[in-house]
Amino acid sequence: MKKINIAIDGPSGVGKSTISNFISKKYGLKFINTGSFYRAVAYYFYEKYNKNLELIANEQFVLDNWKIEYISLDENGNVLLQNKNVSDKLRMDEISWWASYVSKYKIIRKQIVDFLQAYAAKNKGIIMDGRDTTSVVLKDAELKIFLWASPEIRAKRRLKQNKELGYSSDYEQLLNEIKKRDFQDMNREHDPLYKTEDSVLIDSTDLTFEQVTEKVSSLIDERVKDE
Ligand code: DC
Repeated sequence: MKKINIAIDGPSGVGKSTISNFISKKYGLKFINTGSFYRAVAYYFYEKYNKNLELIANEQFVLDNWKIEYISLDENGNVLLQNKNVSDKLRMDEISWWASYVSKYKIIRKQIVDFLQAYAAKNKGIIMDGRDTTSVVLKDAELKIFLWASPEIRAKRRLKQNKELGYSSDYEQLLNEIKKRDFQDMNREHDPLYKTEDSVLIDSTDLTFEQVTEKVSSLIDERVKDE
């Protein structure tokens, strides 16, 4: 199959990573979750400075104490922080919140975008998900998707996941957090989340996982045919 690049953007909790991971295996693409880069920066400060995450709210402190060279990727596309696989640490709620701070900093964004673009230049056949992969990182991707679901359905899905994992959570609180993060992601000054004109909108509010992956698969099949 001809190798193509795919970019998927969308708000938090919409299922981008689960879909991208599935599609990457089905089509033999390399999956890069760009959010894990911002999370890795947040986790670096979390671990090194005694969980004093207030420090990360100070942009100058972050810039003075961070080097993009701390990050690399393993052959499976996992982010390594100073050569250690920290994937299992990056999904913590505190890290989600503080990652949204570092993702506002222009210089941090530029470092990460440059890293991802250099990687993409050397590795054709990738699928990236995030907030700016369609608009900035993989502007020339053969397929661009904006994956959406209403905040209410995302909160319900998260509530169900938490229940299955044995965590108790409150629907209204989850909904509020989702709305707050949407607002931050869509209204920040640098590279905010939006649907580019050339992205295909998939509204997954009333779709199952299988229906979404079928839609994505048929878009890929069309693109591969055209190539
Ligand atoms: O997708 P995620 O929840 O793992 O992302 C973590 C944070 O990083 C989130 O606040 C949005 C931000 N992010 C970004 O600004 N640009 C990206 N390409 C990916 C994530």
